[in-house]
Amino acid sequence: MKKVVVFTGAGISAESGLKTFRDDNGMWKTYRFEEVASPDAWARDPELVLEFYNLRRKQLLEVEPNAAHKALVKLKDYYDLTIITQNVDDLHERAGSTNILHLHGELRKAQSISNENLVCDIDGWELKMGDKGEDGKQLRPNVVWFGEQVPQMIPAVRIAQQADIFIVIGTSLLVYPAASLLQYVNDEAPKYLIDPKASVSSNIRNLTIIRKNAGDGVTKLVEDLIQKANTL
Ligand code: OAD
Repeated sequence: MKKVVVFTGAGISAESGLKTFRDDNGMWKTYRFEEVASPDAWARDPELVLEFYNLRRKQLLEVEPNAAHKALVKLKDYYDLTIITQNVDDLHERAGSTNILHLHGELRKAQSISNENLVCDIDGWELKMGDKGEDGKQLRPNVVWFGEQVPQMIPAVRIAQQADIFIVIGTSLLVYPAASLLQYVNDEAPKYLIDPKASVSSNIRNLTIIRKNAGDGVTKLVEDLIQKANTL
């Protein structure tokens, strides 16, 4: 089976009702990420940081996967499919996808403040000061904050390098190192970028830009790729 690698950002979850970060009504227009999503913010005001992610988690529990998340699931019957997502939501999982790498962590999980590898599920939507991990240390959201390393980047690069087809969906490609993944994909591999406001440098070979919302764009592309797989 050919390897399809899908790389998603906040735009794929927009039609589920989750805000993106940098669009006009985006999250970083309401909040300053330095105040809610950085190690400094945690040192200064952990309650505020917890509240920010608690609200995100509460909202996540109220929304559902959309047509784009669901369409991607169908690809796995025809291709060796891996999803690399920058999203901390679990909408790919809830749609039924399985091979998923979360580059920026997972909203429904927590980690010990003294050991990022001690990860546990969060029951419900609230994580509070005083909630402790197995090691007796305070738990913090299992998300990568600005200024932190992206430990999953190394496996993500390896996966991107092996892609026969690479599909990018709903990301501004402004946050590094995640945005550099496209550079690692084989020049010969067909690449697709689905984003209504797609803008990308022209030095990416074999790139097709589809300026559509994820719901329509992904559904159509998945149909085309399934057809192609059947005719190979
Ligand atoms: P951004 O908010 O930067 O970009 C969202 C992209 O989604 C934009 O290019 C929009 O045009 C596109 N978009 C909006 N609605 C869409 C729709 N219905 N269908 C398809 N695309 C749509 O979000 P990301 O690129 O995901 O990191 O942001 C990257 C990282 O920055 C996030 O993972 C997060 C953030 O700060 C951390 O928190 C570490």
